Amino acid sequence: MHKVTLIPGDGIGPEVTRAACEIVAASGAAIQWETVMAGMKAGAEFGTPLPQSVIDSALRNKLALKGPTQTPFGSAYPVQVGGNVYPSVTVALRKELGAFANVRPVKNYPGVKSRYENVDMIIYRENSEDLYMGIERMVDADTAEAVKRITRSGSERIARFAFEEQRKLGRKKLTVAHKSNVLKMTDGLFLKVAQDVARDYPDIELNSRVVDALCMELVVKPESFDGLILQNLYGDIVSDLGAGLVGGLGVAPGANVGPVCAMFEAVHGSAPDIAGKDIANPLAIILSAVMLLRYVGEAQAADRIEAALTAVLREGRHVTRDLGGDAGTKRFTAAIVEKLQA
Ligand code: NAI
Repeated sequence: MHKVTLIPGDGIGPEVTRAACEIVAASGAAIQWETVMAGMKAGAEFGTPLPQSVIDSALRNKLALKGPTQTPFGSAYPVQVGGNVYPSVTVALRKELGAFANVRPVKNYPGVKSRYENVDMIIYRENSEDLYMGIERMVDADTAEAVKRITRSGSERIARFAFEEQRKLGRKKLTVAHKSNVLKMTDGLFLKVAQDVARDYPDIELNSRVVDALCMELVVKPESFDGLILQNLYGDIVSDLGAGLVGGLGVAPGANVGPVCAMFEAVHGSAPDIAGKDIANPLAIILSAVMLLRYVGEAQAADRIEAALTAVLREGRHVTRDLGGDAGTKRFTAAIVEKLQA
């Protein structure tokens, strides 16, 4: 039995994580959930959006499934953990759990409308450095600044992780994105380290793209990419672009992986505009749970869920609004459960 920390989160989080739990249960996987609270509700109840007990639970179980947590736009919302201050619950969790690699598969699913076909790549986003370290300040009334920090060791571990994963998956290509023509030191270092690491993986071809040119190429011929190595901010932006290539945020899963703990979560946020209305698409978090099952060696349950959801998508009768149907979150989930039980 694998014990997994479950963080339902804010907005649509509780609805979509409930769906994922129902489907995992129906798959027969040996998963036991330990539910903890983080996000806005935790803030109201415990005086902090990220109680230490949440971090302790995830570190103890070494596994977590996280729903989205809300971060107010613009206004200050510091998340304090011990002596560290973070800009959001998600950033804090990734950092405190040591989950330095954000893995985001981008692939077409049958029945999910998209402008493209045959897209199948994996985004490897560095999760702990760059502009997301939260080092930001008002210099004076006119000027604000943020620090972009890139380290050799941080760049090397994400590059090595990406090469190892691609090798395990039998993939042959990686593309590293940068803006080293302008950011000569930070992006220059990130690029150079990836190129150095590539020498240890002669079976995998590494090429590089300036990040803006990469975005253009991604919307012109996304099927030509196999895997991307990205810094934190570029990775955040390009991940949503990736989701858009294959049908939207409703179908984009992800994992945050480190040496101690792995936390699985959808790319999308808490979607406050549709929260509590039974219209959110739960697929992204279900696919994140499938990644979790593969990670813990429950491959059979993962295959069964993928087959069930693929069948529901292909039939198209019980899919959510964003996928062109009129089913609610619950009906969509029930349809997948029915396939699993058939
Ligand atoms: P968002 O991803 O929540 O929503 C963007 C748009 O996509 C909205 O129109 C929403 O309705 C739609 N959408 C998102 N997920 C969907 C789903 N599963 N099914 C159907 N439609 C879906 O991004 P937004 O609006 O920028 O952020 C809202 C909040 O979420 C913010 O507080 C933000 O900080 C937080 N957020 C949290 C993340 C996390 O916890 N990992 C990641 C991204 C944002």
